[in-house]
Amino acid sequence: MKKIAIMTAGGDCPGLNAAIKAVVLSAVQKGIEVVGILDGYKGLVEGYYTDLTKQSVENIEILGGTILGSSNKECPFYYLVDKANMKYEDKTDESIKKLKDMGVEGLIVIGGDGTLDSARVLNERGMPTVGIPKTIDNDMEASTPTIGFSTAIGNVVDAISKIRTTAYSHRRVMVAEIMGRTSGYLTLYGGFASGADIILLPEKDYDLDLVCNKLKEIIKEKRCAIVAVSESAKEIGKSETIAKIISDSFEQKRYGGIAEKLAKEIEAKTGIETRHIVLGHIQRGGTPNPMDIIQASQQGNYAFELLINGENGFIVGIKGDTLTKMEFPKERKARQLIFDENPLVKTAKAMGIYFGD
Ligand code: F6P
Repeated sequence: MKKIAIMTAGGDCPGLNAAIKAVVLSAVQKGIEVVGILDGYKGLVEGYYTDLTKQSVENIEILGGTILGSSNKECPFYYLVDKANMKYEDKTDESIKKLKDMGVEGLIVIGGDGTLDSARVLNERGMPTVGIPKTIDNDMEASTPTIGFSTAIGNVVDAISKIRTTAYSHRRVMVAEIMGRTSGYLTLYGGFASGADIILLPEKDYDLDLVCNKLKEIIKEKRCAIVAVSESAKEIGKSETIAKIISDSFEQKRYGGIAEKLAKEIEAKTGIETRHIVLGHIQRGGTPNPMDIIQASQQGNYAFELLINGENGFIVGIKGDTLTKMEFPKERKARQLIFDENPLVKTAKAMGIYFGD
């Protein structure tokens, strides 16, 4: 191969730039040119590109987000061409032709499960493609953990440590809403590491009365309490709290609002002053931590090696110390934690942390 392309798509996360840098520098070492596709699949379809050189990736690994830009809406095989009439077209072949006309022979796509599903289609339609999974949600089978998860845990811990002091001063319950879509990993790990007293996950519906009784005990014992609630957690018999539906997005549901709802319910049922906080996009921002930089660089280099050796059609991952590869799955399914078997749930329970069950 003489020229490859790279792109980032889906919700951004810390570590993307380290993966980009690893691909570019690995390519430079072998005399291969790299084209950066801007703004995710929008840039792929519309043809927004930039050349990536050794100079353009200097020091980018310490930056959050992605220097290439991203979007979590577009999909090349179901691309919105007329918003007024919500008309979609398959732009896959056209996008591949644009790349091939520039001499691009292979593509590396960094993204979550939606993004990598489109990458699968690009690979099947004739553009040799390798995927790199990333997401703060840690909800992908291909890599455990995913790029961005580790930094996001740190961001959750930073935020919760700040609300803990004010909770203590005011004898309050603080309910912190944590991202993760349908997976509870970020809430479990972030909640645990920040010393939350109660952790509510999408994988285990909670009993509101039991949560309230537990909070009364905790407040008596230690003045304040922290509840870490996943954005898609729900009370037994109720549904998730949806903040909005984005109709032209591949993943249409955006969860949100559970912390506010729960804080009101806790205050009404217990009489304890309760406040809520939505940690929001702070969780996805900022400098990647060293582990994410290292992991993203390893996966970036591995993806590049597979691509130039003709091993396309794979997603590269990491499991423990080992770099792994799996074929693009045909079915998109977010990985959820298995509540009754998860080792960290077990540790937390043994230490008295309450899960509302
Ligand atoms: O998938 C990453 C994520 O941050 C989820 O945890 C969250 O539900 C979603 O993206 C938010 O999406 P948006 O950036 O469109 O608000």
